[in-house]
Amino acid sequence: MANRKKIGLIGAGNIGGELARLCANAELGDVVLFDIPAKENFAKGKALDLEQNSSVLGYDAKITGSSNWADLEGSDVLIITAGIPRKPGQSRDDLVAVNLPIIRDVANNAKKHCPDAFVIVISNPLDAMVYEYKRVTGCPKGKVAGMAGVLDSARFQLFLAREAGVSIKDVRAMVLGGHGDDMVPVLSMCTINGVPATHFIKADRMQAIIDRTRKGGGEIVNLMGTSAYYAPASSAVAMAEAYLGDQKRLLACAAYLEGEYGYKDLFMGVPAVIGKGGVEKIVEIPLTSEEKGMLEKSAKSVQSVVDVCKKS
Ligand code: APR
Repeated sequence: MANRKKIGLIGAGNIGGELARLCANAELGDVVLFDIPAKENFAKGKALDLEQNSSVLGYDAKITGSSNWADLEGSDVLIITAGIPRKPGQSRDDLVAVNLPIIRDVANNAKKHCPDAFVIVISNPLDAMVYEYKRVTGCPKGKVAGMAGVLDSARFQLFLAREAGVSIKDVRAMVLGGHGDDMVPVLSMCTINGVPATHFIKADRMQAIIDRTRKGGGEIVNLMGTSAYYAPASSAVAMAEAYLGDQKRLLACAAYLEGEYGYKDLFMGVPAVIGKGGVEKIVEIPLTSEEKGMLEKSAKSVQSVVDVCKKS
């Protein structure tokens, strides 16, 4: 089919497999599940399993496994999960030494084989990995974003919904800043169908929810021994769909800042409009002085990991 989109998934592990399932099920396009040569058969096996699933669930999508970058040529979207996930006791920043050479390898190949793709990075430490991807490829700033804000916001929204005893469908909240323990849940913009969430939730409970959100990834790592994958995959697919469908969704994502919120030459979670141009616009929302302070702390943490990358 001439008009089918092509989605390249770099990393065929836990998140990669779930990404493939979601992309195929939503018929976003044909999917290439890519992994290193040692895991090519694993990627091919997952792809075949998912193609067989199409006859049960009834979706039209070609899904292939590969370790050959040539197979990714013509990709409209690349979603990068290549790398090692956390183990209990590790912070995302602990992954930098292992995942930095991996993102560089991926960026060099993506630059060569998929120069026009909209790229969504998931590998951790997220904000530094997406920075490194842009630095190595030199791609336009709108063509690459990091997925963290949609996921962190989803976690925040779930905990708010449970505490307030309302449907998850009515909770609106955004988490900004770096994808680390000092991320910034924006309480001043958090509503339950337009009603401030603080109307439903007392201050001490709200603080507990904020703390749990910040450690939301670690909570799952401690339970499973590895990182989450269902919600991370759905979050990246929301971004991919926004791009492929020119939906102009306002999503929190790690976008390249050139003065917005007072930061320059840094990727960090901010509200951004995603449409056919990729990250089309960064929206500067008013923050309270407390939130600005938290954002500054978070930006410093991100910068310190980026500085480690720059020296390596
Ligand atoms: N190119 C392609 N794939 C690679 C490369 C590479 N250079 N290096 C490693 N991989 C693959 C691994 O072989 C593995 O199959 O990336 C895959 C990662 O899969 P998992 O180990 O299952 O990890 P996952 O849970 O999917 O998380 C991936 O996303 O959320 C982050 O912290 C998480 O950095 C981690 C990443």
